[in-house]
Amino acid sequence: MKVAITGAAGYFGRKIIERLEKNEECEEIIGISRRNFKHNFKKLKYYRMDVRDRNIKNIFKKADIVIHLAFVLKPIHNREEMRDINVNGTKNVLRACKETNVKKIIITSSTMVYGAWPDNPEYLTEDSPLRGHPTYYYNQDKIEMEKLCKQFRNDKAILTILRPCLVLGPTVNHFYSRLINWPFLPLVDGKNPDMQFLHEDDLARAYEIFIMKDLPGAYNVVGKGTMKWKEVIETAGRKAIKIPSLILYPLANFLWKIRILEAPADIFDFIKYRWVASGEKAKKEAGFIPKYTTRETLLDFLSHL
Ligand SMILES: NC(=O)c1ccc[n+]([C@@H]2O[C@H](COP(=O)([O-])OP(=O)(O)OC[C@H]3O[C@@H](n4cnc5c(N)ncnc54)[C@H](OP(=O)(O)O)[C@@H]3O)[C@@H](O)[C@H]2O)c1
Repeated sequence: MKVAITGAAGYFGRKIIERLEKNEECEEIIGISRRNFKHNFKKLKYYRMDVRDRNIKNIFKKADIVIHLAFVLKPIHNREEMRDINVNGTKNVLRACKETNVKKIIITSSTMVYGAWPDNPEYLTEDSPLRGHPTYYYNQDKIEMEKLCKQFRNDKAILTILRPCLVLGPTVNHFYSRLINWPFLPLVDGKNPDMQFLHEDDLARAYEIFIMKDLPGAYNVVGKGTMKWKEVIETAGRKAIKIPSLILYPLANFLWKIRILEAPADIFDFIKYRWVASGEKAKKEAGFIPKYTTRETLLDFLSHL
């Protein structure tokens, strides 16, 4: 089995490759992203390429399975560029899969597509509406990506959409994990929603399961249990401070504009309302049971800071 991975040099990519290195059925891994990537992976053939490059199909020609991870997560100030990579990059990947003999495509979405809303049910399922966020680009692009998948027709290939929740672990270094370095963190309008984390080792295991089993459709991939946001802050040894959104949002947007904050104020909506997803479908149909709870994931992440 030969597996091609877009965004191979990123956080998920490195963890999934690490896992596939040990999988005897995987004979070759073909990775692409733009950066220079020094690695010691034995099975990996790495290509520096933009996910929007039409030549991607020449790389996919050798692959049985394509895992699409390449995406801009950390908001950038150029909305058009972000959309171009996220949406047109996905279009290019799907087109290239159709033009080659790829048998399975695993697209990476996120539980963020459900959006953080005050009327969210206790557990969002794969059938819940994708309400996203009215202005947060990342969500809008993920929802558009999922629409492209819905329209995608290819009788030769299985298409699986994985929706992981926030992933943490010893090797994470993302803008959202760096929030924990702030001396204090906000309880927006005094709200204290439940948070859900998936451990990076569980994430890699989940991808391996979906590589090995043929399961078309969408699946949430989430950690066990939840923790209150205030408890997350205090476990990290930080101070939780109640701040009204009327003050926090304009201030955060100003700091984002002058490039002090790594994300606009929209991100705070995800610590204001609950957006916890159910992992029951992945458990029942794929047999994926996370080893780590949300709390254990947080503690493992914190112990490696
Ligand atoms: N991290 C999480 O908690 C989380 C949760 C749910 C879903 N996800 C999704 O999981 C996927 C992987 O996330 P991640 O955490 O691994 O992100 P990441 O560490 O930022 O990795 C993203 C990868 O995409 C590549 N990339 C970006 N733009 C590209 C372009 N134009 N052409 C080719 N490659 C490009 C990056 O490399 P270069 O910049 O060098 O090209 C990098 O290798 C994303 O789709 C993300 O939305 C992540």
